[in-house]
Amino acid sequence: MISNFVGRVDNTFLFVITISVVFFLGLTAAMIYFVVHYHHRKHPKGENIHGSLPLELLWTVIPTILVLIIFYYGMVGYREMQSIPKDAFPVKVYGAMWKWTFEYENGLITDTLYVPAGKPVVLHLESRDVIHSFYIPAFRIKQDAVPGVPTKMWFTANEPGSYQVLCAEYCGDRHSYMLSEVRAMPQQEFDTWYASASKELPAPAPVAQAKKPAGEEKKAGEETGEGDPERGKRIVQGKGACTACHSLDGSRLVGPSFKGLFGRKETVLVDGKEQEVVVDEAYVIESIKNPSAKVVKGYQPLMPPQQLTDQEIRDVIAYLKTLK
Ligand code: CUA
Repeated sequence: MISNFVGRVDNTFLFVITISVVFFLGLTAAMIYFVVHYHHRKHPKGENIHGSLPLELLWTVIPTILVLIIFYYGMVGYREMQSIPKDAFPVKVYGAMWKWTFEYENGLITDTLYVPAGKPVVLHLESRDVIHSFYIPAFRIKQDAVPGVPTKMWFTANEPGSYQVLCAEYCGDRHSYMLSEVRAMPQQEFDTWYASASKELPAPAPVAQAKKPAGEEKKAGEETGEGDPERGKRIVQGKGACTACHSLDGSRLVGPSFKGLFGRKETVLVDGKEQEVVVDEAYVIESIKNPSAKVVKGYQPLMPPQQLTDQEIRDVIAYLKTLK
């Protein structure tokens, strides 16, 4: 079984399908029998029948029992999906229009979900904009990612391999492109991959300054860190999921490409009127915080405001400047 849930989910499904098929065939057979047997040439005069206790009991009790059995399987399966093992390997999953991003305990960020096979994994789902739904059909699990409401799901991938990840909640234009992959690897292989991928992690951003008394506020601002292109790259490709809509190679996606963005002249629409802007820091900051203020001509005002700290915005700007 590919995941620990496959057996139970499939058996429940098979049970429901079997009941449906049996009833479908039975009812069809009974219908055909009645049509032939009670044809008006054989029974020209209809009989008037009043109630039948055994029949009524039969068609009340049997379906009730069947429905209770289905409920039992559903409840047991649901409880299993809700009981997350304490030693499960945690991964954060960010859903954003229109990309899944994965973050590991040490800050490592990936586009593909890498997990150790044979070990329980718990996913902490967060949405950065609208409702998405994280769905791994091969594992028989699906869970909504709701903005402001952290949700969880878990599984054990029993067989190493690659399996498709889908978004199962319509979330806008590129919903059907919101695809990813989960790659289950034998523990040892996973450990090797995790160690080598984590080696390239850049230094963490400086901790945000505590609020200073009013007089010193300006000074506190001067002390904050420089933008770091490596950290910016991680935000653009990871947490911010910018690359879901902005390409890095010049190709046109939902939004303008980031390639050669800095210093570029763009025609933007402000309240329906065309205007020329040169992309500078101020324009980037405005476009992150209030994306619909100046939308580049030819694009739709689709982007939601991004919640990034000032430091993160400086990092992003430093990174954008490297994309020549
Ligand atoms: Cu995200 Cu559909």
